[in-house]
Formats: sequence, structure tokens, C-alpha cells
Amino acid sequence: MHNQKKIITQEKILTGDRATGQLHLGHFVGSLQQRVKLQHEYEQTVLVADLQGLTDNGHNPHKVSSNILNVVADYLAVGIDPLKTTICLQSAIPALAELTMYYSNLVSVARLQRNPTVKNEISAKSFGRSIPTGFLTYPISQAADITAFRATLIPVGDDQLPMIEQTNEIVRKLNHIAQDDILVECRPLLSKMPRLPSTDGKCKMSKSMGNCILLSATDKDISKAVKSMYTDPNHLKIEDPGQVSGNVVFTYLDAFHPDSTFIDELKVRYQNGGLGDGTTKKILEECLQNTLKPIRERRDVFMSDKAQLIDILRMGSQKSQEESNQVLNNVKRALGLNLFN
Ligand code: TRP
Repeated sequence: MHNQKKIITQEKILTGDRATGQLHLGHFVGSLQQRVKLQHEYEQTVLVADLQGLTDNGHNPHKVSSNILNVVADYLAVGIDPLKTTICLQSAIPALAELTMYYSNLVSVARLQRNPTVKNEISAKSFGRSIPTGFLTYPISQAADITAFRATLIPVGDDQLPMIEQTNEIVRKLNHIAQDDILVECRPLLSKMPRLPSTDGKCKMSKSMGNCILLSATDKDISKAVKSMYTDPNHLKIEDPGQVSGNVVFTYLDAFHPDSTFIDELKVRYQNGGLGDGTTKKILEECLQNTLKPIRERRDVFMSDKAQLIDILRMGSQKSQEESNQVLNNVKRALGLNLFN
């Protein structure tokens, strides 16, 4: 049945993650759960983006290399099934780097500097005058990823929309040169889940900021993270009325607690006054322990067999090499670079 649907839809999905750290609850809510669902309906490839991870870690490659298997274990632990989803490693697919070189001649530096996501990242990372070339050009590398797999649907958060736009510009330019539709345009598949806030309620989740809960978090880690969570700073005494909006504990309860009626009642009690943060945090802590325990246990099993993780990645990468080499050959032919074939 699933196969039939795959044939009917003809859509190809590509997603990926920079391999710069373990995955966390933000990834889980924003994209991992969706991938587990989509793998039954579509042909899907998930890319461990180690090359892209290096674009702002050129002097610290260990940060990327040491996280490749972590990311694969995270995928498997949440239920991404290598028999249904192709899991591959960006650096093991040379066609992606080659396509990046060809595409880079079709994109101006000014266009890259206008990409709003890159622009924001550049100012946030305070590169100063030393923006790595690879970082400025990573949207081109991402266009190579997307087109090499002939992906038509890209599940993304809204920060990735400029990458899709840039990809389609490259597709149109190359097809115009080739006078043939050798590359396919893609569309975003926007996640319906709102972005999960960091535990401090301040900014983007990041492991180095210590404001996220990893999929590998132990009971102790979870407890500590929930205890430190941002609530309503004006809710000083239990009997005070509390604010639910912007209260990270309630945002997480909405995202993870299975009983939404119970949570709605809890919100009313909190807003009326008489419900303490200690109680809401206790409920959240238990809920997150229940969510993460099976994931952590599966993750531990996968991490204890690195050879198996490497095999999964190797097999997915081999399949991806075959797919992407075809696209590369078409692009080279369009550019007249096919003397030998
Ligand atoms: N840019 C994505 C991120 O920051 C990772 C990524 C690399 C990607 N190549 C991709 C996502 C291709 C979708 C499609 O997480």
C-alpha cells in the first residue's frame, strides 16, 4: 500500500541537518516527527550535512566529525527507518561538491549577501570581515543537495525559505542554458508545528547555550532543564494569577502532553491563581521523562554498535551517489563537459 502511494505522488522529499551537535527536542517537534510520518507516504532522503556543518567550523572540524554518528543515532532512535528513508552523508557524495562548483558560476556574490537567512547568520556569528567563503556560498551547496536528489518537496522551517528560492533560481538558469528541464524545481513543505522555544525562553536552542533538551538527555538532565525553565516572572506567589502565553512550561506541555483537556484545565487554574510553578514543572518533568525514555534507550543501543551506524550511512550514501551522478552527468553535458562520455 505504501509503495502504491509513493508511485502515485511521485514527490521526492529531501531534508537534512548540519552535523554540528546532537539533535534536541526542537528538532523532534519541528521536523523529526514529521519525517517519521512522511517516510510512509513518500520517497525520502535525509542528509547528514557534514560539509555544511564545516562552513562555520572550518577550524574546528572535530565538532562536525564527532557528531555524524550522533545524528544518525538520533534519527534511528526517533523511528526514522533506514529501510524506508535513505540516510546519507554529504561528504561521501562527491557529485554534491562538483555541482556546487558549477552552480557557483551562476550566482553573484551580491545575491548571496542578500539572502536574508545568511545575512542574519553572518551578523549573529560575528565573523567580522572574515566570513568564510564556504559559509557565504552554502545556499549554493544546498541547491546542489536538493537538485542532485531531484527533490520536489523540502520540509522546512521558515528560515529555510530563502534557500528554496535560491535553488529554484539556479534550476531555472541551468535549464535555460541546457534548453531542457534537466533540473526540477522544488517547493517548501512548511511545518505546522510552531517553533519550540529554548528553555530560557530567550532565543534559538543551542547546546552550547545550555538552553535545550537533547534527545539523549538523562532523567537528571531533564529535571534540571525543567526546573530552570522560564515561566512568568510576575507570578511570584502561588495565589497570584499567572500568564500562560510566553510561559515555556506551558508551551512544552502543549507540545508534549498527551491529554490536552487536562492541560487546558491546568491553564485556567494557573491564570486564576493558586497553581504554583513547582506543580506545573513537576507535571512537565514527568511528561518529558515519559517521552524521552524510550528514545534514549533506543539511542543507547544504536550508539553501542557504531559499525552498524556506519553501514547504514554507507549504504544510503552509495544509493545517493548513483542518483546524484546521473544529475551531475546531465549538468556536465549541458555545459559541454562530456568529452569522455
Ligand atoms: N540547512 C539545513 C540546516 O541548517 C541542512 C541542509 C543541508 C538541508 N542540505 C539540505 C536541508 C538540503 C534541506 C535540504 O539544518
